[in-house]
Amino acid sequence: MTENKAIEYIINVEHLNKQFIIDKQPMDILKDINLQIKKGEFITIVGHSGCGKSTLLKIICGLVDYKDGIVERNGHAVAGPGPKCGMVFQDHRLMPWLKIKDNVGFGLKSLSKPERQETVKRYLDLVGLSGFENSYPSQLSGGMSQRAAIARGLANKPTILLLDEPFGALDALTRIQMQKEILRIQKEEKTTMIMVTHDIEEAIYLGNRIVVMSARPGEIKEIIDVDPVEGKKRNGKRFNEYKQKIYNYFFENEKEREVS
Ligand SMILES: Nc1ncnc2c1ncn2[C@@H]1O[C@H](COP(=O)(O)OP(=O)(O)OP(=O)(O)O)[C@@H](O)[C@H]1O
Ligand SMILES: [Mg+2]
Repeated sequence: MTENKAIEYIINVEHLNKQFIIDKQPMDILKDINLQIKKGEFITIVGHSGCGKSTLLKIICGLVDYKDGIVERNGHAVAGPGPKCGMVFQDHRLMPWLKIKDNVGFGLKSLSKPERQETVKRYLDLVGLSGFENSYPSQLSGGMSQRAAIARGLANKPTILLLDEPFGALDALTRIQMQKEILRIQKEEKTTMIMVTHDIEEAIYLGNRIVVMSARPGEIKEIIDVDPVEGKKRNGKRFNEYKQKIYNYFFENEKEREVS
């Protein structure tokens, strides 16, 4: 990538192909992925189960290798994880032997003890887990563990945060609350975020752009720009048009399907 492009795009993916060996056979997982993301953008990704969404996030994060294509963060080829790029995984991956406060504060070793405590408290409050600082992950519900994992991801203040279905285990009310919070944080901290979600409305509500992927091998079918005002009115005309458009990709034989 040229220097100008590196300034323009915090994440650059060009012609990325990925195969995994499944049952001794190479299988195409991602096909010719091209995605350029500017600093501070919120990108959402939707696609069928198994189309490679988590794999794409892990490649950007540096947790899964790639051979074919270009993947850059801040203008540098991704060669492994970095402190400025965080990931909230589909399964919460909390460390079972650590209390919640120590899980959330795990990446904050460079801070002084009071600063660390303050940061942990702030993010536990934010996700509604104050009072559970001294609990262990096994003592929390699935939704609470997921919220602790979100707090851990945010507490590190990464410049890029990759979120893999972070709200999947939350009840509907908490989910809407968390959506608002994540947008607020994203704007406040100017974090670049990529979120995979199975919830089409969530993808529209949160994303500046929505990446729609095909079934495996995952290809980008379309990147939809979401109108920042009209597109965000849940159940408004524009919002429903996006919804219908995305449904049509997933239910190609049901083009006339009404989305209520
Ligand atoms: N480490 C691995 N080794 C081999 N195959 C893998 C590996 N990780 C993922 N796969 C395969 O790659 C494909 C894509 O997996 P991935 O987890 O990226 O899908 P996904 O789009 O995130 O699905 P879901 O929506 O169900 O989470 C699947 O067929 C999966 O079995
Ligand atoms: Mg996944």
